[in-house]
Amino acid sequence: MDHFLYRSGILHAEDVAIPEIAAAVGTPFYVYSTATLERHYRLFTEALDPLPHLVCFAVKSNSNVAVLKVLGDLGAGMDVVSGGEYLRAKAAGVPGGRIVFSGVGKTKAEMRLALEGGIRQFNVESEPELLALSEIAAGMGVVAPIALRVNPDVDAKTHEKIATGKSENKFGIPIAKAREVYALAARLPGIDVCAVDVHIGSQLTDLAPFEQAYLKVADLTRALRADGHDIRRLDLGGGLGIPYTRSNEAPPLPVEYGALIKRTVGDLGCEIEIEPGRLISGNAGLLVSGVIYVKAGEGRDFLILDAAMNDLVRPSMYGAHHDIVPVVEPAAGAAAQPFDVVGPVCETGDTFAKARHLPALAAGDLVAFRSAGAYGAVMASEYNTRPLVPEVLVRGDHFAVIRARPTFDEILNRDTIPEWL
Ligand code: LLP
Repeated sequence: MDHFLYRSGILHAEDVAIPEIAAAVGTPFYVYSTATLERHYRLFTEALDPLPHLVCFAVKSNSNVAVLKVLGDLGAGMDVVSGGEYLRAKAAGVPGGRIVFSGVGKTKAEMRLALEGGIRQFNVESEPELLALSEIAAGMGVVAPIALRVNPDVDAKTHEKIATGKSENKFGIPIAKAREVYALAARLPGIDVCAVDVHIGSQLTDLAPFEQAYLKVADLTRALRADGHDIRRLDLGGGLGIPYTRSNEAPPLPVEYGALIKRTVGDLGCEIEIEPGRLISGNAGLLVSGVIYVKAGEGRDFLILDAAMNDLVRPSMYGAHHDIVPVVEPAAGAAAQPFDVVGPVCETGDTFAKARHLPALAAGDLVAFRSAGAYGAVMASEYNTRPLVPEVLVRGDHFAVIRARPTFDEILNRDTIPEWL
């Protein structure tokens, strides 16, 4: 459920009419609903109650500092994968004690940054990383709390570009080797072993792969405890999928996911961490775009929008489906026709949808891409020197620009011409 509904035939974000925002900031723009973000976060915390737990929002899915503050103010932790994301979480007021640091290639500078600013735990993905972290922490006279991210070799049954839990993927330490690496970790001066971490992929629409992975984590935890390690937390990663279409095939609900966690690892007495991104932010955001032209082609009509692949790359990168809806609700029974929905970028791949059935639309009309709050703005680029799309946050009947569209001066001033040219 989200808070983007038609009222009197006009699409609203909570109590604000989308055309009102379009008039104020211009198109294209991203708009997020505070109520939806809050609701989705609460679904997870309620699903994990009464287990001791921390829901760490995957910052990579939507890293706007205002969005992080909405969640941080509710008590959320943050899962970050770079020094930049760490600084964003801190800028949103999230204490270091609620930030976990994931990622396969943390640099020494990033380790130092997090150790200085405070960190809940590093999710370490390899032996060389473990040695580097120990060296940095010991050099600073501190110990780094860690989990090892284990690769459980399960098939997450999702898009190949976002599956991470198979042995051929670059992520984590093979689960069969985990005890050996934990033993090494326990001998290192700058390391405090406290947790086990697993994350098998994103946009999972079936609970079975989670179950396989979590049962393996439970077995490993018992073995590690028998080896003398004080495993007190389990980080179970993110990945629960969202409905991208309004069809009946809804992915499992957070409450079902929570029940699975309780069933598989609930008896270990560990504090549970999860790292959901998409399920919290995905359906909390729209990308709103204006129609530039309707172009009649050979056997098809093109809807040419002012948004493009650089603003929302998921369709061209993963063949992902995003529902596209007109901002003015079509009259009941109004005829729909197929459009190829495209952007202005000079690539054939700049196609959002083919033969998508939409009502008659004309230049100047507004459309909205649903489910664009996760992996939308964060993956945008300025390809074709198209300014990054602004972001707007709505709460109730008011809205604010939470990232302004850069001016062309700002964009051009980032480049410098050497004096010898
Ligand atoms: N934790 C780790 C270690 C991750 O790598 C990810 C996502 C998450 C948590 C959050 O997963 P989520 O709950 O959002 O599924 N750009 C792709 C998605 C890439 C996901 C990468 N890792 C897309 O647009 O579908």
